[in-house]
Amino acid sequence: MSKALIVYGSTTGNTEATAKQIGEVLSQQGVEVTIQDVTRTQVADLGGDFDLTLLGSSTWGDADIEFQEDFAPFYDTLDQANLKGRKVALFGCGDSSYTHFCGAVNMLEEKMEELGAAVVNDPLRIDGDPGDAKSDIVDWAKEVASHA
Ligand SMILES: Cc1cc2nc3c(=O)[nH]c(=O)nc-3n(C[C@H](O)[C@H](O)[C@H](O)COP(=O)(O)O)c2cc1C
Repeated sequence: MSKALIVYGSTTGNTEATAKQIGEVLSQQGVEVTIQDVTRTQVADLGGDFDLTLLGSSTWGDADIEFQEDFAPFYDTLDQANLKGRKVALFGCGDSSYTHFCGAVNMLEEKMEELGAAVVNDPLRIDGDPGDAKSDIVDWAKEVASHA
């Protein structure tokens, strides 16, 4: 059975809810899923035994892109992540009325490129309430599961 690690940073619960929905879909597709709040995650946890690593952060800030407050210190350690050639998928919640819609996801995408990770699907960017994007989340997660 393939194994996936889902790590999320979430302030008001939107990215957390998204992570959990993604996790349910992956489980239904036969993937063994571990979901962790970023506050309980070390960079050394990434990759390793996991066939797939999913990283999710909401975006805060305005003029500047800011990661979700718990995700920010974790992002700063990502240069040490052993993700070269490893399968990764990215997601996050945001609001398109801000200048940098889901800017944190864009920054994660750049970081994964620097690290040589294999991003398996276009990142999932949720605009507003993830409860209104359930079918998009399911479709995205099924596509990700097909790479696990
Ligand atoms: C002060 C503030 C700043 C925000 N800045 C951005 C932003 O720059 N880009 C964006 O896409 N969303 C921005 N958002 C929207 C949040 O990312 C969005 O509400 C998201 O669903 C929160 O997810 P979370 O509950 O997982 O933290 C901002 C929201 C607030 C309240």
